[in-house]
Amino acid sequence: MRSKIVAGNWKMNKNVSESKALAEGLVNELKDVTLENTRVIVAPTFVNLTTVTAVTENSAVEVAAQNMHQEASGAYTGEISAEMLTSIGVKTVILGHSERREYFGENETLLAKKTDAALANGLEVIYCFGEVKEERESNTQEAVVKKQISEALFHLDAAAWSNIVLAYEPVWAIGTGLTASADQAQEMHAFIRGLIADKYGADVAENVSILYGGSCKPSNAEEIFSKPDVDGGLIGGASLKAEDFAAVIKAI
Ligand code: 13P
Repeated sequence: MRSKIVAGNWKMNKNVSESKALAEGLVNELKDVTLENTRVIVAPTFVNLTTVTAVTENSAVEVAAQNMHQEASGAYTGEISAEMLTSIGVKTVILGHSERREYFGENETLLAKKTDAALANGLEVIYCFGEVKEERESNTQEAVVKKQISEALFHLDAAAWSNIVLAYEPVWAIGTGLTASADQAQEMHAFIRGLIADKYGADVAENVSILYGGSCKPSNAEEIFSKPDVDGGLIGGASLKAEDFAAVIKAI
């Protein structure tokens, strides 16, 4: 059975003391919550991974990185390798976020390499993708998403998919307050699961968790998460307050 997952992407927010306080607040909010088949993940900035890992060590909260470099080591100033992440106990990495694509030129060719490096080092990958507003308006979102998934991930063998989580994040809904309706999310998630089934068969498709991201918050999480192909969320703004993030988690 696929897991439900609620992941908080903290983006470039929170210094070390703020990160520690947020992680402590979240652990505290969740201490009496029973999480049935549900994983909770937070993704602080690189410099705060160690601090947050220490705070969450004996809790249900897992820690992910927001990005990594595809090479193992070398002259890549400013970059972080998969092995560096695993060496501090990180088990999951977010790849392909729309902000990485938009501001740092990441594309499917690069993301295929990053995915390979992550999996080779035993990291789980949360692979993000989603259409921009113009693509939604011209009704090309399915073709866009198909390209983003197939070109970055369809070289993988079926076994590799046990370490892949998909995150559909329509760019027009990220940080805008606009959110895909629960029906729009379900429609796209069903389309995505169909793509995986066509390529890898029903077993792989049924076992992959597909998260929704984009202005997901306490007031709309329950409706979005109630859809059969929505297995949780990747949360930005609402993950920056322990109380709000806990409310989103409880919605699942
Ligand atoms: P918001 O929840 O702030 O819209 O961000 C979503 C997101 O980009 C998560 O990765």
